[in-house]
Amino acid sequence: MKTPKHYLQFTDFSQDEYLHLFERARILKRRHYDGELYRPLVGKVMSMIFEKNSTRTRVSFEAGMAQLGGHALFLDGHTSQIGRGEPIADTARVLSRMSDIIMIRTFEQANVEQLAAHSRVPVINGLTNEYHPCQVLADIFTWVEQRGPIAGKTVAWIGDGNNMARTWAQAARLLGFKLRVATPKGYEIKPLPHDVYDSSFYHACHDPHEAAQGADIVTTDVFTSMGFEAESAARAAAFEQFTVTAELMALAHPQAMFMHCLPAHRGEEVSAEVIDGAQSVVWDEAENRMHVQKAVIEYLLLGRVSR
Ligand code: CP
Ligand code: NVA
Repeated sequence: MKTPKHYLQFTDFSQDEYLHLFERARILKRRHYDGELYRPLVGKVMSMIFEKNSTRTRVSFEAGMAQLGGHALFLDGHTSQIGRGEPIADTARVLSRMSDIIMIRTFEQANVEQLAAHSRVPVINGLTNEYHPCQVLADIFTWVEQRGPIAGKTVAWIGDGNNMARTWAQAARLLGFKLRVATPKGYEIKPLPHDVYDSSFYHACHDPHEAAQGADIVTTDVFTSMGFEAESAARAAAFEQFTVTAELMALAHPQAMFMHCLPAHRGEEVSAEVIDGAQSVVWDEAENRMHVQKAVIEYLLLGRVSR
């Protein structure tokens, strides 16, 4: 049996594949706005596994599959056998005999790798402790559709060196933009063995002002990611100086975009003035999750479609 292509981390696609996906996302978005039906996936099923909460990821995949003519079904740890200790490899074997594609949101990246290793069908990572490729894809598409190529631009990441930050670093290296990451001490990105960081695209510091200076995109995320709730109090103290405020935005490029994957906490990682202000594109990012993921699903199941 042919090994399926998966989307488990940002580096699973090449620069050329991303150019294709941006173009397809643009076309699929226009069709959706025009009310044009495009249903290449009639009869196809996506199984979605959620071991962590979600609003955007669930709705964007479910709506996206419906729009493509297919169906998406929801499984969680509480009501399926996944939460009762059935091995992930067995879950993969079973689900991939009844569905055409699988999406998973879970804790360790190793779980996603294992699911993919035992699946007959493509697997998409809908967030792990380590990565969130679909979100960074949507964020970069948001830049690309409104401003053009991202190569040569500068992105400032303010806050935790988490799954989103690590994915932005993969994207910067692959797509040729600069990433400046400002974290509190002790919350730096911990690179995984296969991730290469060098000064050609990456600059780490502990000062949000240094990171934001002249940046084209300023982006942040919650202080405490899902699964790390026990650290909330310590994190609130450590991240006190890491709120994206209007003063910080003023250091960036005058037309800089503010991005946040959401959900957001106004007054913590971002002020209400910034997230609800003119430079914020957070609702476009959320909507674009659906359009880019439709392009990813189409690509994984049908290859390079040009119609
Ligand atoms: N940004 C994002 O992944 O949101 P959800 O947690 O609501 O899916
Ligand atoms: N870093 C956050 C992103 C949520 C979409 C988390 O993992 O909880």
